[in-house]
Amino acid sequence: MELFEAIAARHSYRGKYQPEPVPREDLQRIMEAGLAAPSGCNKQTTSLIAVDDPALLSEIYGIMDSFCSTAPAVICVTTKRIVAYKDGWGNDRCYGVQDYSAAIENMLLAITALGYASCWIEGHVTDADEQGKRIAELLQVPEDEALICVLPVGRPAEEMKLVRKKPFDMRARFA
Ligand SMILES: Cc1cc2nc3c(=O)[nH]c(=O)nc-3n(C[C@H](O)[C@H](O)[C@H](O)COP(=O)(O)O)c2cc1C
Repeated sequence: MELFEAIAARHSYRGKYQPEPVPREDLQRIMEAGLAAPSGCNKQTTSLIAVDDPALLSEIYGIMDSFCSTAPAVICVTTKRIVAYKDGWGNDRCYGVQDYSAAIENMLLAITALGYASCWIEGHVTDADEQGKRIAELLQVPEDEALICVLPVGRPAEEMKLVRKKPFDMRARFA
């Protein structure tokens, strides 16, 4: 799929998934797309864990209690607090959020380009119920990394529901 087609075709998918496993080479390609994203001062603060083992997946879905629990694979996104530089006042500047956001968008586009569906699931993962912390423990994520997002991956079994976007002119202009 051409890049602009993938950008236009990407939508958050919250329906059921087809049960067929996602080949590991596809999961690898998707993760490589994520890791190819830019990162502030090239600190590469984002790490990824793909899970396709059904037993492990059902433990994750038990923690998440989410609409994505039929997906045959997930990619978990972790971030590590690494200081990029100190600003003029001596404050630490960290770009972890920007870094993982760039990585996630690259992966969502790669997922779309390969014909799969997904959704950026961060809300409950990082909220007070700390699902991310429990999934991190399950996946033995090092203590200095936080698990902040889960991306389901699989072929959609239902129609994609589209949200309405504000028109171009309301959000972008030429100066
Ligand atoms: C930082 C961030 C966190 C998000 N967290 C969730 C989430 O926890 N659950 C969910 O269903 N969608 C989540 N989304 C998806 C948004 O709801 C979705 O992108 C938005 O409604 C626009 O729809 P679209 O992705 O189809 O363009 C998140 C998106 C972003 C960028």
